[in-house]
Parts: sequence; structure tokens; C-alpha cells
Amino acid sequence: MTEWMAIKENIKAWVKEVGKEQLIRIEQPFQMKTKSSDIDLVTEVDEWSEQYLIDQIKSHYPDHAIMSEESGWHEGQAEYEWVIDPIDGTVNFAHGFPLFSISVGVKFRGETVIGVVYVPKLDEMYEAVKGSGATLNGKTISVSGVERLNQAVVCTGFPYDRATDPNNNVDHFNAIITKVGGIRRTGSAAMDLCQVAAGRFDGYWELKLQEWDICAGLLIIKEAKGETLSIKQEKGYQVLVGNPAVFHELKSILTWEG
Ligand code: IPD
Ligand code: CA
Ligand code: CA
Repeated sequence: MTEWMAIKENIKAWVKEVGKEQLIRIEQPFQMKTKSSDIDLVTEVDEWSEQYLIDQIKSHYPDHAIMSEESGWHEGQAEYEWVIDPIDGTVNFAHGFPLFSISVGVKFRGETVIGVVYVPKLDEMYEAVKGSGATLNGKTISVSGVERLNQAVVCTGFPYDRATDPNNNVDHFNAIITKVGGIRRTGSAAMDLCQVAAGRFDGYWELKLQEWDICAGLLIIKEAKGETLSIKQEKGYQVLVGNPAVFHELKSILTWEG
């Protein structure tokens, strides 16, 4: 087994443990704080999950660097960098809506080489290693073959500063909603990316995403033969993904270049 495959097996075991605990704790009272705005939340379960993953990484790979949503940058010497979102979909979690995911990406010399996204409620494990394809619960996945936008189901999301910054995706949403077969907002960007990889959604776009939202999911889509565009901007990444046909149709409406 290559080193990357071995790391991926460890990640899968750890996110399964974290997911099991999250499903227990979502049913019980938990503490919660706000972050960048009144609707940007963090719960004690996000913090517990993140600490569990960091403790595992540090004990198995003490020289690897880690970037994690709630605690930021953990310095390391090796060429490896981990990128973690312990609960992607915290608003869902905080409201007791049990669709959320755990996203773990690993970069080697600056390039993502391992991606794992786990959705505990569905017991769905999405995984990819660079150059080896993408799987869902062990079965190979690939993007859909839907070619026409008016038959496509696409997905998006809206940033936490949507009430105060007019660059809030409402204009893009309005331009796209009348042209597609269906549109969804799940509340977990990492899970959205994986739905495109699995061919369930045909395209997805969003603004102001952070690296922990997309690191694992973008590799999973690429390995599922999807097209991706991510453009770094002041407040985060502008991301567009899809099967090749839907990707190009959405790109021409959004007029994003990259
Ligand atoms: C959020 C989710 C959501 C997206 C937001 C993200 P969080 O992550 O992925 O779907 O619309 O932009 O910040 O805060 O739940 O980790
Ligand atoms: Ca997130
Ligand atoms: Ca999060």
C-alpha cells in the first residue's frame, strides 16, 4: 500500500469515530457561539471533533502541518499539510438537521493528493487519492452525463455576510434558477461537491468558500472526471464544478474566467 493510501485509511477510521460521536451529540444539548456574524456558528461539537482529528494526526504524523477551521494553522516541518473542516454544515447541525459532513484533505508539496468527506447520517464515505479515481463507500463514482441545463439539478449556497455585502450570490441565483431543471441548497459545501462527483447533482457553484470547505471535495470531483474552477478572491474562493457540459453552461452564465 502506498503511503497516501495508508494515510487515507487512517483518515477514514478517524472520521467514522468523529461522525459516530456527532450523531450522538446532535441529540443532546450543546453549547454554541457566533463567529463572523450572528448566523456564523460554532458548537462545542465542532471544537471537540477538530481536537480529536488534530490529536490523531499529531500522534501519527507529528511533523505534518495542519490547517483547521476553528483553530487555524498548526506548524509542521514535513511536506504534508492537512486541511480540515470538522463539521461542514454547522448551521444544519446547530438546528438539529442531521445533514452535515466532515472534510479532510491532505496536500503534498502544495498539491491536494488525498480527499475524504464523510456524511455520518447517511454513512457515506467519499474518498479519492490523486490519480486513483473517486469512490463512494468503496464503489467508483463519476459525474453525470446530463447535457442540457434545463434538465440539470444544480446546487449552490450563500455566504454568511449576505445581509451586509451585495456580492452575496443572489444575482447569480436569479440568473440560473429559471434555466435549470432544479436547484438545491444543502448547507454543506463539501457534501455538495461530493453530490456532483457521485452524479446526483450535475453542477454546483458558490462564492467566498474557504480552503477547508473545498480541499477534499475538489479532488474527489476531479477524480470523478468532473470539471472544476476555483478562483481565490479577497473573501475566499469562487468555486464552480460540474459534469463537463453543465460546467460550461454555468460558466457562461456566471461569466467567471480562470
Ligand atoms: C459552510 C457550509 C455552507 C456554505 C458556507 C460554509 P460551515 O461551512 O459549507 O454550505 O454555504 O459558505 O461556510 O460554516 O458549516 O463549516
Ligand atoms: Ca465549512
Ligand atoms: Ca465547519
